[in-house]
Amino acid sequence: MKRMKPWGLLVTVGMSALIACTIKPGLDTRAALEKAKAQLETSLTAYTDLTQFPRGAKADGSYRGTKSSEWTSGFYPATLWYMYEYTQDKKWADAARRWTAGMEKEQFNTHTHDLGFMLYCPFGNGYRLTNDPAYKEVMLQGARSLSTRFNPKTGCIKSWDHGKWQFPVIIDNMMNLELLFWATRVSGDSSFYKVAVTHANTTSKNHFRSDNSSYHVVDYDTLTGKVIQRVTHQGFANESAWARGQAWGLYGYTVAYRETKDKRYLDQAVKIASFYLKHPNLPADKVPYWDFNATGIPKEERDASAAAITASGLLELSTYVKDGKPYVTAAEQMLTSLGSPAYLAKPGENNHFILLHSVGHKPAKSEIDVPLVYADYYYIEGLLRYQRLKDNAQKK
Ligand code: GLY
Repeated sequence: MKRMKPWGLLVTVGMSALIACTIKPGLDTRAALEKAKAQLETSLTAYTDLTQFPRGAKADGSYRGTKSSEWTSGFYPATLWYMYEYTQDKKWADAARRWTAGMEKEQFNTHTHDLGFMLYCPFGNGYRLTNDPAYKEVMLQGARSLSTRFNPKTGCIKSWDHGKWQFPVIIDNMMNLELLFWATRVSGDSSFYKVAVTHANTTSKNHFRSDNSSYHVVDYDTLTGKVIQRVTHQGFANESAWARGQAWGLYGYTVAYRETKDKRYLDQAVKIASFYLKHPNLPADKVPYWDFNATGIPKEERDASAAAITASGLLELSTYVKDGKPYVTAAEQMLTSLGSPAYLAKPGENNHFILLHSVGHKPAKSEIDVPLVYADYYYIEGLLRYQRLKDNAQKK
């Protein structure tokens, strides 16, 4: 298979002399990736129904797979692509291809904002690593489908069709913009880019509190474009800081800066990072409680998925600021914690997922203290990004 230069999902990190002085060989990424690989090996034989995408575990601890239309379904194939990137072993590319094919029909799905997760993670990584033109077409169609959810009056992409809201927009939605930025770059059609920056600007204006934490859901009036209410769905309370939401915002605005070089997005990402890293409720191991303001802390559950997303996002963010060292150090601590026995599953256990202890949706009593496939995906991405920074530093 033809290999392309890394960009996009792993972009990050091809850069600069700055990086050289921010990273020291600390975290043993190869050892961590070998452990992840061993666990993923067990999943290859355990999960063979290509219509049931590994997602995590149910409340009783049993395995949970999902159909392709769920927002999490692209992460397993995307993780297999990362494993191919790491090993260069065709076995992983073959598996990734098999699972990625099952996501193809979602390119026509206009009922969710999650097409960035669902398509850009598997097909984006597959395209980056193989240059397969069919993958490009799937993503372009996906970008068209996602754009149908944009409303010029609200200045946003609608997140959900379900629920009690008129036009709900969730902070997570920032993660789906990468697909649109990519689509403009590849097609030359600037309409995707315009949708993405308008959404990012509106979210910047309406989703954030004065302490730089974000609301989960902002509901808009489609006639006036005004905010109706700011609430939560998966967080502890309307005014609380749901940990994964902060992680999505940090990562999403970092990508928005990469793609636009608009300094306002960089400032937004830096402000979120500051809120997150300086929060008095962030534990010493830097794996957050599922909500920074959950009143049961320190007895509340941790969310490994938020830590993994944040670690990966911080590593990219570190390459855009003058002194990225504190971000690299924090990410290193997060990845080290996640790779320790406290969060890393024993081989063959944990329904074949890599990480323990994530929280999907506690208020709905769903996915509490379970493995989640996206925690694994961003953990591996973070390790690969860290490895690349380390390699670049050693070349200097
Ligand atoms: N995007 C949904 C979640 O983070 O749970």
